[in-house]
Amino acid sequence: MSEIILQLKKIYKHYRAFEGIFKGSSTNIKAVDGISIDIIKGRSLGIVGESGSGKTTLAKIIADIIKPDSGEVLFHGEEISNLKDKYGHYRKNVQVVFQDPYLSLNPKLTIFSAMKDGLKVHGIEGDPREICGEYLEMVGLEKEHLDRYPHEFSGGQRQRVSIARALSLQPEIIIADEPVSSLDVSVQAQILNILKKLKLENGVTFILISHDLAVVSFLCDDIIVMQDGTMMEYGTVDKVLNSPENEYTKELIEASNGW
Ligand SMILES: Nc1ncnc2c1ncn2[C@@H]1O[C@H](COP(=O)(O)OP(=O)(O)OP(=O)(O)O)[C@@H](O)[C@H]1O
Ligand SMILES: [Mg+2]
Repeated sequence: MSEIILQLKKIYKHYRAFEGIFKGSSTNIKAVDGISIDIIKGRSLGIVGESGSGKTTLAKIIADIIKPDSGEVLFHGEEISNLKDKYGHYRKNVQVVFQDPYLSLNPKLTIFSAMKDGLKVHGIEGDPREICGEYLEMVGLEKEHLDRYPHEFSGGQRQRVSIARALSLQPEIIIADEPVSSLDVSVQAQILNILKKLKLENGVTFILISHDLAVVSFLCDDIIVMQDGTMMEYGTVDKVLNSPENEYTKELIEASNGW
């Protein structure tokens, strides 16, 4: 039987944008407008949609970085704001990798300090240097890199560091928001292969946000197409990309010409 890890129920998040010279008038931006999704263990989910369709807002709500206006996020059946040990259990099990790894890496800490603190906070036992080194190697870096600072890496290496750090906490879910879009094609392929390996060998379930349908079809089992904060289409990657029902999905597929 399929196990639901995470459930989103009727999530809404609207913003007010002030316009005009005197900022007198305002419009309502429906960043996320009534989204319900089940995340099933072992089935990675791709979220696609044009710029501004609400993908990052949704990712931040799932990661508990921002609160929805209304709706529920249930982790193994329990609303996350009611989780007794939210900062331990949930934070450990739902990790986020952003497009710009600078956002998630503290420039003042060596990679080892940053990773070690995470292990300690989340009570992961063992020799921290040994563990951190193993995760760096898992993403194709070296143990010696542990003593470097974030600015001493290339963009692709930094992205791998942020993936290693997320992995070291042994999360059930990794939310990756455009994890490869700032990287050049050969590095993209390396990182996608690493993610795929983790999915297959370590059983990590991914929520992958990407504007690139090829990336989603490589890594994901299911896909959601978003437009203006709503879900336009949902189904298996195979179904949605090969026989889309929605006009907007068809346009997206055409626009990404020959994914
Ligand atoms: N903090 C905020 N305040 C006001 N408006 C916001 C805020 N965050 C997001 N928005 C608006 O909400 C909408 C959805 O933004 P979001 O970042 O979720 O889009 P996205 O799908 O991730 O786009 P992209 O593909 O460009 O990253 C946009 O219109 C954006 O301008
Ligand atoms: Mg975004």
